[in-house]
Amino acid sequence: MKDKIKEIQRSAIEEIAQASDAEALEKARVKYLGRKGLITELFKSMGGVSPADRAEVGKLINSLKETATKAVDEKAPSLSGGRDLKVQKTDITLPGISREIGHRHPISKTIEEICGVFISLGFKVVEGPEIENEHYNFEALNIPLEHPSRDAFDTFYLADKWLLRSHTSPVQARFMEKNKPPFSIVIPGKVYRPDATDASHSFMFHQVEGLVVSDNIKFSDLKGALTLFAKQMFGESTRMRFRPSFFPFTEPSAEVDISCILCSGKEVRDAQGAIHRCSLCGGKGWIEILGAGMVNPKVFKNVGYNPEKVTGFAFGMGVERIAILKYGITDIRMFFENDIRFLRQF
Ligand code: DAH
Repeated sequence: MKDKIKEIQRSAIEEIAQASDAEALEKARVKYLGRKGLITELFKSMGGVSPADRAEVGKLINSLKETATKAVDEKAPSLSGGRDLKVQKTDITLPGISREIGHRHPISKTIEEICGVFISLGFKVVEGPEIENEHYNFEALNIPLEHPSRDAFDTFYLADKWLLRSHTSPVQARFMEKNKPPFSIVIPGKVYRPDATDASHSFMFHQVEGLVVSDNIKFSDLKGALTLFAKQMFGESTRMRFRPSFFPFTEPSAEVDISCILCSGKEVRDAQGAIHRCSLCGGKGWIEILGAGMVNPKVFKNVGYNPEKVTGFAFGMGVERIAILKYGITDIRMFFENDIRFLRQF
């Protein structure tokens, strides 16, 4: 039995060493190590070995098996062009893992587009805190504690007079306190209102605020800047309309409309001559896009400027509203649901 083992060991080593290709090696492996191979047969014949020799013979066969396995494993890489046979088992025809490349959110894109128009006019981008206090969110902007206009800017309160800012206007006051005119800035950011969520309301949305302060700023400057903005954003043929309005921080104040981007204010009649109401403007021909005005002298006083010496204009717009109009989106909630099928379209 021991001689037989030695003989098999000799021939196995020789055949493995002589195998000149992967096929020959596999043949040798099956011949010795396969399920019906010679080494397996040796194990099976252990039953005939006398109990006294059994331990020694067992050891010898085990060592033979190890030697042969090692010899096959060591030989294999050289026959498969330097590659490990195990690696070759990878099916290179399987489809790969595709990693999707993300892109900016439509709101971020719209913010960049809005700011881009003003940057081209020489404005700088400034940001401020989302957690504000009553002074900057209200008082500094001439919204007194008991004034009814405060309702329009109601917000979420945190502890100790801290709150979530309800508009980006507080950054106007923060910036003016720390900087001297002349300057032109735009202020993008998130704002918060305790509104019930529906297709056109969200408790969080985005605004872009604008502020220009210098020694001789006129209402016509405001008109010029906003007209350019509207044309760049919604197309050359867009017209603008300023309606008198009220904001505590501007005087005079205006609400700014653009000509309806769907019907352009033209009557739409069907074949029978019946007038069809435009689904966007309701037939009015105008849609509101922002609030604006000349900076109220009281605001200048609150930040330590001399209202006799400085003048300025300001404006504020809702980013979601601009994006909704520009892309024809019907529900503000789509921006925040993170549905990939929606986001992929931008
Ligand atoms: N802060 C106002 C709002 O949230 C928007 C606004 C209106 C900002 C007029 C201004 C402005 O700077 O001049 O409704």
